[in-house]
Amino acid sequence: AASTRYEAESSPAVCTGTVDSDWTGYSGSGFCNGDNAAGAYAQFTVNAPASGTATLKIRFANGTTTARPANVTVNGSAATSASFEGTGAWGTWATKTITVPVTSGSNTIRLSPTTSAGLPNIDYLDA
Ligand code: GCU
Ligand code: CA
Repeated sequence: AASTRYEAESSPAVCTGTVDSDWTGYSGSGFCNGDNAAGAYAQFTVNAPASGTATLKIRFANGTTTARPANVTVNGSAATSASFEGTGAWGTWATKTITVPVTSGSNTIRLSPTTSAGLPNIDYLDA
C-alpha cells in the first residue's frame, strides 16, 4: 500500500525542542530540532491498518561527525534502536529504515536519544 507521511512539525507529532526551518531541504514547513538532551524526544502517531510489523522510514540530518543513537518505543514498549550517523551537513538529509511491531489503529512511536547530544534533526516519518 502507499505510505503515509507524518511530518515531525505537525500535530499530533511532538517535538521536545524547537521546530526550525533554518536548514534547507526539509519537507513540509520545517523539522524537529530536539533539545540536545537525553530526555528530549520526537514522537509520531502512526496509523496502522492491521497489527503486525511496520516499516518506518525516518528522514533525518546530523551535521556532526558523531552518531546520535536513539531508542524507539511503540506505545511505550521498547521496540528497536536506530543509530542516526552523521550525514555530512545539517542540510543533508538521509533516511533510516526500521521495522517495529504495531497494533491495528493508532500507535505512538517515540524516538528517544540515548546520549546527552540528543537526536539528529528529524524531518518526517513515512509509514
Ligand atoms: C546546530 C544546528 C541545529 C542542530 C544542532 C544540534 O545548532 O543548527 O539544527 O539541531 O546543531 O547539534 O543538535
Ligand atoms: Ca538539536
